[in-house]
Amino acid sequence: MKFKKKILGIGAGYVGAPTMAMIARKCPDYKVTVVDINPERIAAWNSDNLPIFEPGLEDIIRETRGRNLFFSTDVEGQIRENDIIFVCVNTPTKTFGAGAGMAADLQYWEKTARQILDNAESSKIVVEKSTLPIKTALAMERILSSGKGNIKFEVLSSPEFMAEGTAVSDLEYPDRVLIGSRETKSGLAARAELVEIFSRWVPPEKIITSNVWSAELSKLVANAFLAQRVSSINSISALCEKTDADINEVAYAVGMDTRIGAKFLKAGIGFGGSCFKKDILNLVYLCGHYGLPEVASYWESVVKINEYQQDRFVSNILNAMFNTLAGKKICILGFAFKADTGDTRESPAINITRKLLAEQAEVVISDPRALANARIDLAGDGEKISFIEDPYRAAAGCHALAVLTDWDLYRKLDYRKIFNSMIKPAFLFDGRNIVDHQKCFEIGFNVFPVGKPALSRL
Ligand code: NAD
Ligand code: UGA
Repeated sequence: MKFKKKILGIGAGYVGAPTMAMIARKCPDYKVTVVDINPERIAAWNSDNLPIFEPGLEDIIRETRGRNLFFSTDVEGQIRENDIIFVCVNTPTKTFGAGAGMAADLQYWEKTARQILDNAESSKIVVEKSTLPIKTALAMERILSSGKGNIKFEVLSSPEFMAEGTAVSDLEYPDRVLIGSRETKSGLAARAELVEIFSRWVPPEKIITSNVWSAELSKLVANAFLAQRVSSINSISALCEKTDADINEVAYAVGMDTRIGAKFLKAGIGFGGSCFKKDILNLVYLCGHYGLPEVASYWESVVKINEYQQDRFVSNILNAMFNTLAGKKICILGFAFKADTGDTRESPAINITRKLLAEQAEVVISDPRALANARIDLAGDGEKISFIEDPYRAAAGCHALAVLTDWDLYRKLDYRKIFNSMIKPAFLFDGRNIVDHQKCFEIGFNVFPVGKPALSRL
């Protein structure tokens, strides 16, 4: 079959693979290839055992793989083959040198830019899908224009706004697709090419265009605003716990104001995931770099409140359990950073588990999808951790339950059965406010929600 366009995604991760798979589904006349330097990841994408769990993704891969979606490790060959390249590589926080712990580590991204330059034999449109500091496209342009010859590269920014757990519907029905380009003749032509791709399934009013810098910055700002809402509600949850107000009632009342809106006002143990913290710290670093310390410290406080919320959760456990956890067994229900994913990157559960271990507690970890990642995350954290997928077996013989992920499954457990198998007095710390607190209290638990009065007999 002769394909109308050939599109490449570099980086077969949580963003690259689902995004490219959605393009393949919606544009059956385009050939879409995803490459990665990690051969195991590519082998997994080519197998029945996909490397990430994402609801609905398996169906799309089954439908498109081998038809117009291909996974390969041949990065160089595929750069030559394709006309439009989406760069979806990871951009973690730098762990070394200048900006360590704050700035984005651009080594994977720069390596990709150089590979594109070294291997391209014809002009290309290069699209930044990864989340990058503002002005990265300028560096990309400089690298790409350092070659000789007539090959032209047009660099665009089209950041991805999907969330894990809902990636498929976010990609299929996005709130918006943002395409930033240079406002030159060739920049606008490249912009039009991208608009054409997304127009296959996204309504025109949801495809928005801007200059490159606005697109790059909008992504960091969108994540910073979402995280800021979580930290705002979590900060108020601390006040609720001191004053007998109920954070759910406050969030509901506040969110009913259409100017504020109801989403992202769920109090809990703080945000996790590979991006919120990384992107805010990147924003903070950029503000510092551009001489705006007040702006930097405003956004930094969002991360500080997030850490405070996790510390507070563990202090509440410690206080409630008579100020000693040594030798006590705590069952963690949920290790993923949110429901419907096996991803544990920056999961609050990692920090909370470590703090419990520091108090010499024994920790039993349960999760329906994230135990493989949890084992890797906690590989160096000693002997007092066990991993049991079945929540009933995990909880048996424990002194306390700590709900750390909002898996629907934890709303529906038979808490009476669990209570009967636990050591008394039995404690329930609901870090996501998803359990029926009154019912669990009536069963016999001492219940400690976030941002609500505790229900305790002690
Ligand atoms: P990831 O770590 O899951 O995937 C990145 C992939 O890129 C890895 O498989 C890695 O092996 C590959 N890679 C690195 N260098 C490469 C190279 N030179 N050539 C080929 N492959 C290479 O990361 P992710 O979660 O998919 O995130 C990717 C980017 O998208 C980040 O910038 C992130 O901030 C952004 N983002 C992520 C999400 C999300 O939900 N995870 C959502 C929106 C945006
Ligand atoms: C987030 C954004 O929602 C996406 O738009 C963005 O594309 C993505 O980051 C990214 O750039 O990587 P994600 O991290 O996958 O997506 O998941 P979210 O649903 O945003 O949740 C992030 C964290 O905040 C989770 O730990 C979640 O439990 C927590 N959260 C979220 C709350 O504690 N309360 C809320 O009300 C909402």
